[in-house]
Amino acid sequence: MIVSGAVSGHMSVILHFPSEMETNGNSLSTSYHEVSRQIDDGREIDALRYVFELPPEELDILRNNPLKVVDAIDEFGTSKFLQNVGRHKGQLVTEQIRNVQPGTMVELGSYIGYSSVLFGYYVRAYGPKGAKLISIEHNPLFGAITMAFIELAGLKDTVDVIIGGSTESIRRLHDQGRLDSIDLMFMDHLRPLFLTDLKLAETLRLIHPGTLVIANKILKPGNQAYLRYLRLPTEEKQYESDLKKDRIGDWRYCYDSTMIETIEPTGTKVRSSSLACVGFPRPY
Ligand SMILES: C[S@@+](CC[C@H](N)C(=O)[O-])C[C@H]1O[C@@H](n2cnc3c(N)ncnc32)[C@H](O)[C@@H]1O
Repeated sequence: MIVSGAVSGHMSVILHFPSEMETNGNSLSTSYHEVSRQIDDGREIDALRYVFELPPEELDILRNNPLKVVDAIDEFGTSKFLQNVGRHKGQLVTEQIRNVQPGTMVELGSYIGYSSVLFGYYVRAYGPKGAKLISIEHNPLFGAITMAFIELAGLKDTVDVIIGGSTESIRRLHDQGRLDSIDLMFMDHLRPLFLTDLKLAETLRLIHPGTLVIANKILKPGNQAYLRYLRLPTEEKQYESDLKKDRIGDWRYCYDSTMIETIEPTGTKVRSSSLACVGFPRPY
């Protein structure tokens, strides 16, 4: 199914969703184990060991081959659930990378680097020369595992893994002159921080007309504050920001947004828990 979304902003988006046939086809057949959604119980290190302890000839095939690294992580995920974007949402985001062709993409929440490897590959393929993915993860163990997979995939030149909280890291990178503009932002971290971090990016003038913001799992467990902010007319935003003396964020930004139904890595079509939101700030 091909679906068009959010076309009244600066850019039109064609979002492609896997059909039933594609989801059951070879390349997308890997489904994650539904049973336990536990994280941080040692499974992330197990995933690292699983990949790096493959027989040498198999590991060699993965070297400098990002999509094979993603396949290997998926292989592990079929026995123990990993909380990554998975194939279907991954495909959705990579199609946006192809549309936006970002010079700078920021990912908030790397986990063990599945999405960092996948998106890094497409940022290098479709972005301009020197394009970067900055992937921020606050759990040092997960960040270190991400770094190991990025190195294995041969993406060290494209992907900067930053270990630290999203808000502090965005501010620090900006202050250090390492982040002055964001073309595509993928928020997949702590939901209450989606709005905080978007507003910070506005305040720091990192968001610009044409920036695409994708927020994962926006409806369930829910992020009404974020959705409300995206949809509020600028006059109301100005009124609220004056009222609250809220100096974070910039009420002059205006977003078009669209909800997207996606499929969980488990293969289950969970309508409400896997929606993404895409916003385009307009010039003012
Ligand atoms: C759903 S996982 C990310 C999955 C990853 N994007 C992927 O698809 O492979 C969410 C991650 O966000 C991280 N996280 C939570 N709060 C964070 C914060 N404030 N800053 C950065 N990372 C955070 C968690 O440690 C976790 O690894």
